[in-house]
Amino acid sequence: MKVLESKFANEFLNMAERCFSMGWHERNGGNMSYRIRPEEVAEVRGDFTDKNPWVEIGAAIPSMAGEFFMVTGSGKFFQNTKSQPEDATAIVEVDGAGENYRIVWGLVNGGRPTSELPSHLLNHAVKAAATGGKNRVIYHCHPVNVIALSYVLPLEDAVWSRELWDTMTECPIIFPAGVGVIEWMVPGGREIGVASSEKMKTYDVIIWAHHGMFVSGEDFDMAFGLAHTVDKAADILVKIISMGGRKRSISSDDFRRLAKDFGVTLNEDFLK
Ligand code: 13P
Ligand code: ZN
Repeated sequence: MKVLESKFANEFLNMAERCFSMGWHERNGGNMSYRIRPEEVAEVRGDFTDKNPWVEIGAAIPSMAGEFFMVTGSGKFFQNTKSQPEDATAIVEVDGAGENYRIVWGLVNGGRPTSELPSHLLNHAVKAAATGGKNRVIYHCHPVNVIALSYVLPLEDAVWSRELWDTMTECPIIFPAGVGVIEWMVPGGREIGVASSEKMKTYDVIIWAHHGMFVSGEDFDMAFGLAHTVDKAADILVKIISMGGRKRSISSDDFRRLAKDFGVTLNEDFLK
C-alpha cells in the first residue's frame, strides 16, 4: 500500500487541516508527530526508501529505537499539508540506538523534519512509558488566547490549572491532572524538549510561555480534543479577565463532587 492510501496518513492530514482551520497555525507555526504502529509500518513499507542518510536527533532516546513517526516538515505550512503531503510531511525511522533518524518517505523537495523533533521524540518516550504504549500523537500549536494569557497569568502550573478548570465545568474532566507551564525558552532543540518531557510525566498539556501549547493524545481525535478544550477555556478566561474578573467561581468542593461523579482523579494540589 502507498503511504497516502493508509488510514494513519489520512488521519494525520485531516488533523492538520482541522487544526489549520482553527487559526492555530500561521505560516509554518506548529508541528505534529504520530508514532506509527508496527502493523501500519508493515502495510506501507514497500513505499519507503532506504537511500537517505542517518542524521543526529540531538537527543538520545533509546526507548524510541526502531520506531517510525509521521511528522510535519520544518518550515512547512500546515495550510499546505493536506494538499501537498509528500512535500510537507515525512516518515522518519529512528535507529537502533535512538540517536539518529532517517527520512524513509516524504519531504520530496528537500528539507528536514520539524525543528521540534527532539521535543516530539522525548515526549513520545515519556508518554509511551506512562500509558503502556497507548499515546501516539504529540501536537504543538500557536493558539491566540493561550499565548495572550502567558503574558498576564503567573507562569505556575497551579495558577493555570485552576484558572482553566474554572472556566467551563467539563475542563477538569478533560484534563484532570491540570496543565504544566514552561517559562519562555528558545524553540527547537533538546533543551525545550527536556523541559517539556519532565512536565509530560505529570500532564498531557504543556503551555510554552509566549509561544504556544504542546499536547499528547492517544490518537488524533484525543490530541485535537484536548487542544481544542484548552484553547476554548483560555478564550473564556480572556473574556472573564477582560470583563473585570470573576464575580463567582466553582468551589474546590464542587470540583471534588464533579470528580467523584465522573470518576476522575483531580490533582489535589490545585484544589487548595
Ligand atoms: P517548524 O516549522 O520547524 O516545525 O517550527 C515551527 C514551530 O512552531 C516551532 O516551535
Ligand atoms: Zn512553535
